[in-house]
Amino acid sequence: MQDGKMISYIILIVCVQGSVLTISVIYPHPHKLLSISIPENRALKRSLGFIEDTYYNFTELANKYGHETEEYEVTTDDGYLLTIFRIKTKCVTPRPYPIVLLHGIMDSADAWILAGPELGLGYILANNCYDVWAANHRGNQYSRKHIKLNPNTDFEFWNYSIDEHGYYDLPAIVDHVLNASNKEKVYFIGHSQGTTDFFIMTSIRPEYNNKIHLSIQLAPVAYLKHLKIPLANFAAKQTELIKNILDDISLQELLGKYEIIHPVLEQLCQVAPVPLCEFILQLTTGYKDGISPRTLSVAFGHLVVGVSAKTLSHFGQLIQSKKFQRYDEGREINLQKYGSENPPEYNVSKITSAVLLMCSKNDLLSSLENVNELSSRLPNLVEEYVVQDKSWSHHNFLWGIKAPEYVFNKILGYLKKYDQI
Ligand SMILES: *[C@@H]1O[C@H](CO)[C@@H](O)[C@H](O)[C@H]1NC(C)=O
Ligand SMILES: *[C@@H]1O[C@H](CO)[C@@H](O)[C@H](O)[C@H]1NC(C)=O
Ligand SMILES: *[C@@H]1O[C@H](CO)[C@@H](O)[C@H](O)[C@H]1NC(C)=O
Ligand SMILES: *[C@@H]1O[C@H](CO)[C@@H](O)[C@H](O)[C@H]1NC(C)=O
Repeated sequence: MQDGKMISYIILIVCVQGSVLTISVIYPHPHKLLSISIPENRALKRSLGFIEDTYYNFTELANKYGHETEEYEVTTDDGYLLTIFRIKTKCVTPRPYPIVLLHGIMDSADAWILAGPELGLGYILANNCYDVWAANHRGNQYSRKHIKLNPNTDFEFWNYSIDEHGYYDLPAIVDHVLNASNKEKVYFIGHSQGTTDFFIMTSIRPEYNNKIHLSIQLAPVAYLKHLKIPLANFAAKQTELIKNILDDISLQELLGKYEIIHPVLEQLCQVAPVPLCEFILQLTTGYKDGISPRTLSVAFGHLVVGVSAKTLSHFGQLIQSKKFQRYDEGREINLQKYGSENPPEYNVSKITSAVLLMCSKNDLLSSLENVNELSSRLPNLVEEYVVQDKSWSHHNFLWGIKAPEYVFNKILGYLKKYDQI
């Protein structure tokens, strides 16, 4: 980037941060700043020289790279409206089973295509004749809708965690895809929390195992006994306190796409993907290298798009309890909701569908110890595949320069095999 542009950037960022600071000092409810809505300003982004893929949405990206898409809205049994994008394959005879893709925490369907035509798994699968459905769970910018509740004003909209993603969202998505494509089974590919949602669905609604031909779990997350992220372990100890404070100040949607943190990160990562955005991934996942600076810049236009406080609180509970279990609502509600004082564990022995786990040595969120605990309990494990590259981490599975070589070829190999079964 030219020096002139760089300087105007820095001035802009200082001004934005400065005004935020000023307002927060004089404003009577400083926490409300975190949820002030900042409208998207594309003209400004263009004039600042943003890479356009950073702010393009799913449909715009796919169309730019020559793929036709469709958009569907699915209603869950508890009234949430979820958006699913379909990337249409150009093949005359598609493969026998459609593929459902589910993204990770604070992420969206964009994750599967934002790295561009050579690295976007969504495109690669469509090019290999698969019918691809990239879903969005409740709460991100594409699925921030409900038949009755208003996400901006109704506290109750955000009263969900991964339990609801697994119990309501994913089943509604799978049923929609089966019906729309007129098939009996789907493939499932999840990343990070998308895998958690899958393990929850197939253990508390085990009948859904019959609808899954094979699931492929990238950087899987279930047990969090051995978590080596100091920040997360520290925060987990304060789970109850933090949740109570957030409830008291009615802050339930965190880090939304149009809230203050996202636009600041998006902007900073245009200027300094290395080392700034690398550092963020390093802190949270152990990231070392292997994703191009361009992809990092683009990715931070799509990451950090909202999470409910209850979801973070649920992860905090999993870290503390060292168990993979349902949300702890407190003794009284637990008794009503689960019939026991403590929340029941998710029984992963009920996951009878075929599961392929793909993990790595340098992923702090999906550590090998934790994945081993899961795999030892899965009754129908196809393989626990460990990427041999020592620096491979959580997001390399999606956006790594070597993802086709280390991960995608393996996926395509397994899909071709299961196409015949
Ligand atoms: C994506 O962007 C296009 C063009 O701005 C817009 O028409 C479309 O509604 C957007 N789609 C979604 C799902 O936001
Ligand atoms: C949130 O959901 C739980 C049950 O899942 C319910 O007991 C509780 O009352 C709900 N809280 C709000 C504020 O809606
Ligand atoms: C199933 O798909 C058909 C058309 O393919 C549609 O008319 C119908 O409403 C769908 N049913 C559900 C429950 O989504
Ligand atoms: C978990 O599921 C398995 C398989 O259905 C069953 O045999 C076992 O009793 C269950 N465990 C618990 C604690 O419910």
